Amino acid sequence: MIDLRSDTVTRPTKEMLNAMMHATVGDDVFGEDPTINKLEAMAAEMFGMEAGLFCPSGTMTNQIAIKLHTQPGDEIICHEYSHIYNYEGGGLAANSGCQTRLLKGDRGFISAEEVAASIGNPHDVHAAHTSMVSVENTVNKGGGSCYDFSTLEAIGEVARANHLAYHIDGARLFNALVTKSQKAEDYGKLFDTISICLSKGLGCPVGSLLLGSKKHITEARRIRKRFGGGMRQAGYLAAAGVYALENHIDRLFEDHEKAQVLKSALEKCSWVDRIEPVETNIVIFYLKEGKDQKQFMDLLHQKGILLVGMGQGKLRFVTHLDVSMENIEKVNEILVNL
Ligand SMILES: Cc1ncc(COP(=O)(O)O)c(C=O)c1O
Repeated sequence: MIDLRSDTVTRPTKEMLNAMMHATVGDDVFGEDPTINKLEAMAAEMFGMEAGLFCPSGTMTNQIAIKLHTQPGDEIICHEYSHIYNYEGGGLAANSGCQTRLLKGDRGFISAEEVAASIGNPHDVHAAHTSMVSVENTVNKGGGSCYDFSTLEAIGEVARANHLAYHIDGARLFNALVTKSQKAEDYGKLFDTISICLSKGLGCPVGSLLLGSKKHITEARRIRKRFGGGMRQAGYLAAAGVYALENHIDRLFEDHEKAQVLKSALEKCSWVDRIEPVETNIVIFYLKEGKDQKQFMDLLHQKGILLVGMGQGKLRFVTHLDVSMENIEKVNEILVNL
């Protein structure tokens, strides 16, 4: 099987496993796991932020950030494609009692103007209190689309002027940094909290980090405990993260190249209606009307290719560490001959 469903399906490389096996560990709930402490400090330093918190998942880092920045009854401004809205089990409502103000916009992008126009009037008792803006970069449902930094800065200005917390779901932020030649420290200066995932393009088996000020991360640590995310000798997992931050960022451009090669095959296929622009490791395309999504996916499955269906003929391939260019060429041959 060539598994192109997600970049979360990777298994640790031999070198990563070796780093994990040799990790020095302690009880992290007591703050005594040296490998976790190292990973948190390393990631925080990379982004020029004061502190970091290692968590089991990107869902947890996002949910902790939401809990940190909101009160029950508050409203969060985000795009309707957001992971926090679509794919976190209703967590923002269940965990934090919040509602969303969903914005539309090309490929999952929101703009400063739309954010400004969507903030609830703080003097109107009918309105929910808007307390947070959340952006996603890259946007998963937008096809791995990447923001221009100037757009993020403009949203940041609106957020600051209106005393809104500014969070970024950066599950695939490193893909954006590599493609756009952007700097991690610039993100650190702009956002109150940053969530990054180690278990997507970076190839770790588990783990995400929430980055922010010392004050925010101290409180986030309490929320993590409350959510049941305080792990003990999880340095074995953090060691994979340290290895990935040191070795797996620069290679992300290879995944982006593989995505471009996939896209070039899809362009030749008569059953493809359109393809979203491909900027990183995600390729989203739409089947022509009348073509059944399930039958199409079953056919590819029979031919040894796995992908994800996003409904109504919208399909997704994701390239990653565990698919080679040879695998992609094989997929292309199958696609153009379907
Ligand atoms: C954009 C985005 N945010 C957050 C997450 C959540 O990460 P996890 O699966 O580690 O909970 C994902 C997972 O795919 C994602 O794509």
